[in-house]
Amino acid sequence: MNAITIDGPAASGKSTVGYLVGQRLDFLFFDTGVMYRAVAWAILDRGIDSADIGAVGRVAGQLPIGVKAPGADAGDGRQATIHVGGVDVTWSIRSPRVDSIVSVVAANRLVREALSRKQRLIGLEHGSGAAEEAGVVMVGRDIGTVVLPEAPLKIYLEAPLEERARRRFRELVERGNEADFARILDDMRLRDQIDSERAVAPLRPARDAYQIRTDGVSAVEVVEQILPLAVKHLGVAPSSPRKQGPSGDSSPGAGRDCGIIAGSF
Ligand code: CDP
Repeated sequence: MNAITIDGPAASGKSTVGYLVGQRLDFLFFDTGVMYRAVAWAILDRGIDSADIGAVGRVAGQLPIGVKAPGADAGDGRQATIHVGGVDVTWSIRSPRVDSIVSVVAANRLVREALSRKQRLIGLEHGSGAAEEAGVVMVGRDIGTVVLPEAPLKIYLEAPLEERARRRFRELVERGNEADFARILDDMRLRDQIDSERAVAPLRPARDAYQIRTDGVSAVEVVEQILPLAVKHLGVAPSSPRKQGPSGDSSPGAGRDCGIIAGSF
């Protein structure tokens, strides 16, 4: 199977690195966090208590989550456009309000059952040669341990909490949002704790995952560590790096875009 899993705590670099690995291998990219975030957003939107296991589980089972490649809206740095029903929630699912409840929502057994089943089907379809793509890069918390444990290459990214909080702070400021560093740090610490200590599918490296530190190195350097592992474990041949953006990195939007897994889930 041509699948690479990338797990790790909040803001450890999974999405940036995963997207770039996808670009270099012509693999599709799928960020499973958007599904948990979409459910958390819907809970807030509908005024449902995040502690109501049954009600939250029902939302997760029924919510139409649409993922598509960015079109004319690509210039704002998005990797994908996310819809819930007819509403574009691409940025609202990244709000501090969603951050503050998403881990509680993701610890709900019914939510995990509903979403990880869908994610596994998506991973099998795109990673097994049944679809036309060369393969899939899936990122999240439990992709190597629960969703696609048979993937031939599993990566676990990590970086110190302070560094990760600084990244999230910068991202929010760059998007023009107000950001409070102390609050981001506290929220992230709590989110990591809930994600790591939950009973179902806790955040942890798979036994056979390669663990890579992402502090003090650029995303492109992390990608350069992963590509030889993809050659070794999947036997694939990476293409040369895409044209670089003005800032020197090849972040989403620079050069050709990576394909993302699109559809209604
Ligand atoms: O971008 P960031 O790393 O902050 O978070 P994310 O990947 O968008 O995930 C948001 C939340 O969804 C996480 O804190 C987890 O609670 C949950 N999640 C999960 O439980 N399992 C996954 N496979 C992906 C996300």
